[in-house]
Amino acid sequence: MIRSVVLGSGAAKPRTVVTNAELATKIDTSDEWIQQRTGIKQRYIAEPDETTASLGEAAARAALADAGITVDDIDMILLATSTPDNTFPATAVNIQDRLGMKHGAAFDLQAVCSGFVFAITTADNYIKAGRAKRILVIGAETFSRILDWEDRTTCVLFGDGAGAVILEAQEGVGLSNDRGILTSHLRSDGSHRDKLYVDGGPSSTQTVGHLRMQGREVFKHAVAMITDVIEAAFEETGLTAEDIDWFIPHQANRRIIDASAKKLNIASEKVVLTVDQHGNTSAASIPLAIDVAVSDGRLKEGDLVLLEAMGGGFTWGAVLVRW
Ligand code: ACO
Repeated sequence: MIRSVVLGSGAAKPRTVVTNAELATKIDTSDEWIQQRTGIKQRYIAEPDETTASLGEAAARAALADAGITVDDIDMILLATSTPDNTFPATAVNIQDRLGMKHGAAFDLQAVCSGFVFAITTADNYIKAGRAKRILVIGAETFSRILDWEDRTTCVLFGDGAGAVILEAQEGVGLSNDRGILTSHLRSDGSHRDKLYVDGGPSSTQTVGHLRMQGREVFKHAVAMITDVIEAAFEETGLTAEDIDWFIPHQANRRIIDASAKKLNIASEKVVLTVDQHGNTSAASIPLAIDVAVSDGRLKEGDLVLLEAMGGGFTWGAVLVRW
């Protein structure tokens, strides 16, 4: 059977780091409060010349270089983002143009913090259906542009950045020791959409709007939703928490990550944690964390990796992939 194998990965961060202490000089907060509640120590914030497209392009170029291929070898670009440069066209076509790619197709996909998991699942299904040989999947965000910097309950949580992976069709035998994506499970429940949303948009207010969140409500649902979908992935493959080499969750909040790992019996040394360095970068957080684990030598070919995310909508999902 056809498997979608990760051929390469890369990431890009804005130039500017903003520490909790720096934030505390502008808004009524403290390093202690932010670290205790979220585990975040710093985040990267885009300068005016840095956009979702420019960060996405840089991450894509890094992933292409890591895979040892050029844009001519790519059939499709999928960009997961909730912070596009324009309402339309899709930021993915801007990235396509920046990369000098004239063939194939590029489009955006929007599932907020679960965007990368939704995009990699979509790409996997194009590949398994034989409709594409290699797909560039990017998660890129400039959440700093939709934050209300007067609202200390949200603005301290998020950051900007981008990450990318390249998936390639390769033959597998259909067993769980195949390389590539082994299973993926996506969910959404729109009845929760008022718990985490942006209070603007083209057809409602004709403005971009600002992020609004009922933090406690999100927290309340997060662990149950995350663990439910991961258990479905385990059930389908017959794999267990013990088989996992690396758990790479969406990086929203250290307390959510720790509680999820504990409930699933995933050992803490298997958890890739980057929320302290990046903050919550929404759809970019998983590929940014992948880049960290690949760059520091932890994540190697053959490792079994569990990706998971939950976000606005609510949307949530899990992917099991053998590197
Ligand atoms: N600095 C200092 N004090 C603050 C800040 C801040 N930045 N923000 C809020 N406070 C104060 C509040 O005003 C409140 O003060 P009061 O008790 O005098 O009224 C106090 O801190 C507690 O506020 P809560 O909102 O109850 O704080 P809580 O412990 O719930 O933590 C948080 C807030 C961190 C947002 C938490 O609810 C959370 O982690 N929620 C999960 C949401 C999340 O991570 N979302 C990310 C996006 S969704 C996703 O990606 C999955």
